[in-house]
Amino acid sequence: MATSGDACKVFMAPMAGITDQAFRTIVHECGAGNLISEMVAVNAIQYKNPKSYAIADVHGEPYPVTVQLVGYDPQMFADAAKLAADLGAVGIDINMGCPVKKIVNNNSGSALMKNLPRAAAIIEATAKATPLPVSVKFRKGWDNAHINAVEFALMCENSGAKRLTVHGRTRAQGYSGEADWKIIKEVKEAVKIPVIGNGDIDSPQKAAQRLSESGVDGIMIGRALLGNPWLLNNVHQYLTTGAAPFIPSPTDIKQMLRHHIELLVQYYGERSGIAISRKHISWYVKGLYEAKAFREQYTRLNTLSEINDLIETYFARIKQ
Ligand SMILES: Cc1cc2nc3c(=O)[nH]c(=O)nc-3n(C[C@H](O)[C@H](O)[C@H](O)COP(=O)(O)O)c2cc1C
Repeated sequence: MATSGDACKVFMAPMAGITDQAFRTIVHECGAGNLISEMVAVNAIQYKNPKSYAIADVHGEPYPVTVQLVGYDPQMFADAAKLAADLGAVGIDINMGCPVKKIVNNNSGSALMKNLPRAAAIIEATAKATPLPVSVKFRKGWDNAHINAVEFALMCENSGAKRLTVHGRTRAQGYSGEADWKIIKEVKEAVKIPVIGNGDIDSPQKAAQRLSESGVDGIMIGRALLGNPWLLNNVHQYLTTGAAPFIPSPTDIKQMLRHHIELLVQYYGERSGIAISRKHISWYVKGLYEAKAFREQYTRLNTLSEINDLIETYFARIKQ
């Protein structure tokens, strides 16, 4: 059932605050491969900031994990890549697409799309520092007046990147509007290394359509995974065998929710794990009967045993 590795064309998008060890575990258990960490700042892991260090530490996870780095200093990238390799990463992804102010104000993330010499130096330094494959994730461009994904992709390839992921939006768009898959196709046609397309894929059918229209080597899924960890494997199965997607029943959702919360508590401790679980809970029960009331009650609870009682009572009222 597990589908990691080159044969799988479906990739988990890195998402800060989401794609942690607990999330990777459940997505892996659902059958998916090509898993990735949250982004981690190169300076923070070097200084052994405990939270960042923990993000990069994927040692011991029973599936391959790529670690995503973000930053500005080539030497720090080189050092962080070595450290991530020691901590169990099977690949290094460089974040050159993050639109968040705090990141771009440090000239990192998507700000690097405006500074090709610096972006090239980062990729070269990282690729030189580690035998692990180095990939780069970036956007369509900075804004509509600066659309340079193709030029940027060629620079990445020449600097030693082994794979590219293109999110078809500009930095100025953030997550609004629609992803532009025409630019993703142009990137694919311009470079020789594999290109993964990213943006707005939320079903197996859409994944198949985007793959065939753009000719990309794979697709990456982000937001549609929230509350739906089954999706990556559903897409993979549809692409490889045409199988109809697994649609979780309320009992499946209940079991997944309980499992996810337990993993969060195991990983972060009861207090933080429960706090982190609140956003996931909202996504899992979206559209279910009296979800709003359930969410409101959930937010007031602070122990796993109270939470388990609430979940049992809530799901007992939902028709299968
Ligand atoms: C909550 C959240 C956190 C994200 N964190 C990261 C990140 O750490 N690194 C990164 O490269 N992209 C990050 N992204 C962007 C996603 O990886 C992806 O490119 C984007 O959501 C578009 O794909 P989608 O339409 O499938 O969601 C994040 C997106 C969201 C919604």
